[in-house]
Amino acid sequence: VIDVALTCAELRSAQVAVVVDVLRATSTATQALAAGYRRVLCANSIERAIGLRGPGRVLAGERQCVKPVGFDQGNSPIEATKCRGEELVLATTNGAPAIVAAADHAPLVLLACMLNLGAITELLSERSNVNVQIVCSGTDRAVALEDVYVAGRLSAQLSGPRTDAALVAEGVAHAFRTPLDALSASTDAHVLSAAGLTADIDYCALESALDVVPRVLGASDGVAVVVRGDRGAPVARERAVDRGDTVNR
Ligand code: MLT
Repeated sequence: VIDVALTCAELRSAQVAVVVDVLRATSTATQALAAGYRRVLCANSIERAIGLRGPGRVLAGERQCVKPVGFDQGNSPIEATKCRGEELVLATTNGAPAIVAAADHAPLVLLACMLNLGAITELLSERSNVNVQIVCSGTDRAVALEDVYVAGRLSAQLSGPRTDAALVAEGVAHAFRTPLDALSASTDAHVLSAAGLTADIDYCALESALDVVPRVLGASDGVAVVVRGDRGAPVARERAVDRGDTVNR
């Protein structure tokens, strides 16, 4: 069954959870791994992220779209194109907490956005008859158009029965001619534009530009460790390194 959680409130148990926060947390995490970061540590609070500061770690995130005090960079996929360390610590308002929460509901948690739509579709298409929930991070517990659009685009590519929520998301996806049209129509895009971050919206709308599927390796104490989970990625080695403690190296 293909299901869509239109907001995190509808998170439920599934074999695979696919978290979407296209503006901008899952786009930034995907881009960071593509740029060469070994891991992205998604923290569910600013304080938790600050507590993770250490050698080789770059702190990225936002509060009200803007880089928090003391952080190295914002929650920007464009800034994440430059690899400035070994690990990116990412703290955002909705996306990072959604990733941490999803890890409690599914043994396999993947991150999706427009940048990796093709790669994640390919990976999920290899698994038939799986129970998938696509989880829209939303904004402040409300539905975010741009996340539902991406969920609908992904759902439409997968085979199997779908829930009404998945059909709703697919309907939303059909309503827009291009990803940029959909993302630009959202309230979050207006807020980002007002903050001078229009270039990030354009970047997040690029379709299937990256062959990277981030996956959660483990989560504890409000932090989810995310690594490349696409084919050829060093997941087995990472798992050995992380056994026992997902956050400390
Ligand atoms: C979030 O997690 O709420 C977003 O990614 C917000 C943003 O990018 O500004």
